[in-house]
Amino acid sequence: MFSSQLLLPMEMSFSIVQEIGSGRTMEVRRSTGGLSMTVLVAYATMSGHTEELAEMIQERLEQADVTVVVKEAMDVEVSELREYELIVVGSFTWGDGDVPEEMDDLYGDLEDTDLSGLSFAVFGSGDSGYAHFAGAVDHLTDAIRQQNGTLVADSVKVDIDNDVDETEELIDAFTEQIRAAREDGRW
Ligand SMILES: Cc1cc2nc3c(=O)[nH]c(=O)nc-3n(C[C@H](O)[C@H](O)[C@H](O)COP(=O)(O)O)c2cc1C
Repeated sequence: MFSSQLLLPMEMSFSIVQEIGSGRTMEVRRSTGGLSMTVLVAYATMSGHTEELAEMIQERLEQADVTVVVKEAMDVEVSELREYELIVVGSFTWGDGDVPEEMDDLYGDLEDTDLSGLSFAVFGSGDSGYAHFAGAVDHLTDAIRQQNGTLVADSVKVDIDNDVDETEELIDAFTEQIRAAREDGRW
């Protein structure tokens, strides 16, 4: 009798050439591992704004045929990040432009881990009435850069005072950059 382990496919990365219209093609990196095909959205929220942004991002990426797992940052282990093709990190800001407690463990792990080969995008909500508007977005972006993670989109800060249209515009532009980066094979 065969061991079931022998029958399981090994996780492998491979490239496919995909038609993107007008006779153009692009090379896309893919993986055989089921979980590896997905995007993780890891967010921290206190009063729900950042969670709403996470849901907007999820909705837009799913419309672009991306599989999305949404988790609170507190439930994310740094060791699981390599299961995902892209990690979208979102946080509100606390104190004086600080990363909040709810994001602190993941942030600390990001600062301490070699993030080479991992792709990221960062978003957050804040209040532009504070001196350091959405400072947590800057801290997370800096940590990812310093640890050699790849940022595939400009980090986005959403002001709590924005109207719905302004917020949608920012999130549309953010997810569009993520989608375009995917088409370019950057994640
Ligand atoms: C005590 C406290 C400190 C804050 N400090 C900042 C800050 O330094 N910069 C900023 O942009 N927003 C700051 N905020 C605003 C929150 O980040 C903002 O309301 C955010 O949208 C909350 O997101 P959430 O609804 O996901 O919890 C602070 C809010 C509180 C209550």
